[in-house]
Amino acid sequence: MSKPKVYVTRKWPSSVEEKLKALYDVTLNTDDRPLTADEFKSALKNFDAVCPSVCDAFPADVINTADKRCKILGNFGVGFNHIDIHAAKANNIVVTNTPGVLTESTADLAMTLLLMSARRGAEGDRQVRAGQWTGWCPTHMLSSDVTGATLGLIGFGRIAIAMARKAHHGFGMKIIYFSPRTADQSVADELKAERCATLPELLAAADYVSLHCPGSPETRHLINADSLKLMKPLAHLINTARGDVVDSQALIDALQHRQIAGAGLDVYEGEPNINPGFLTLDNVTLLPHLGSATLSTRTAMGNRVLANLADFFGGKEPQDRVV
Ligand code: DGY
Repeated sequence: MSKPKVYVTRKWPSSVEEKLKALYDVTLNTDDRPLTADEFKSALKNFDAVCPSVCDAFPADVINTADKRCKILGNFGVGFNHIDIHAAKANNIVVTNTPGVLTESTADLAMTLLLMSARRGAEGDRQVRAGQWTGWCPTHMLSSDVTGATLGLIGFGRIAIAMARKAHHGFGMKIIYFSPRTADQSVADELKAERCATLPELLAAADYVSLHCPGSPETRHLINADSLKLMKPLAHLINTARGDVVDSQALIDALQHRQIAGAGLDVYEGEPNINPGFLTLDNVTLLPHLGSATLSTRTAMGNRVLANLADFFGGKEPQDRVV
């Protein structure tokens, strides 16, 4: 029997690409070039499985392509807001993701941004590189304490809980969260985590607000001019979730007017294009969507896609099926 034809949209860690080559009739993107909607349509027509990454858009008009061969979208990433899952379902295309394996690395990066924003890390690095540092003095680049401060988490899934553990056990932070669901009692007890009944309650109480909700029409611009006004003037906003959860222009205005102290961002509306207003601000730390970017995590993500493909082509229900 011939091997299933698999199309991978971006370069993956080489150990996973080698496994793909051994198992499937695979087409890899060796140049790692971002592909066009027409190239995605052609992949859907000519391959049994297409494996997109989290910035490859598969809206309804792409998924509705006529004469498709594709039966599964094996997404390389936990977030799947770039795929129209209703269109996928209507077209009998299975969609899988990679939950669990990127939890700790993404939570580590959220803590990195929190610490950098609080302690003005990126700004200090720029000052040293520019030759502008004139030496230690008692009032140089004063910043905010992390230890003992209150961390407010919006969304309280795997990554938020992992960040809360690092913040609470490592930095003695008080944990509050806003989420549709109450945390398991064991987690709440371990972290002494308190659930806020409303978003405004969390925004008014937190010294650091970290976003962990999925990207969706419901969460688009959850953080906007009104919600930013509710944050403490010395608070920082951290986003490792999805760019469009935050209204970029409203955040730029709030940072410019020192309505809040700072922000640490890993994701952006319309990324990789970034609102140029961010680039001239000293009180924002900007990272290029590095949340899961460790070699072991990205390898584990690739292996998780492989496991989902193996289940699917072996006639089993893929463990990470989302639709
Ligand atoms: C994901 O998997 O959704 C992440 O954003 C990738 O880092």
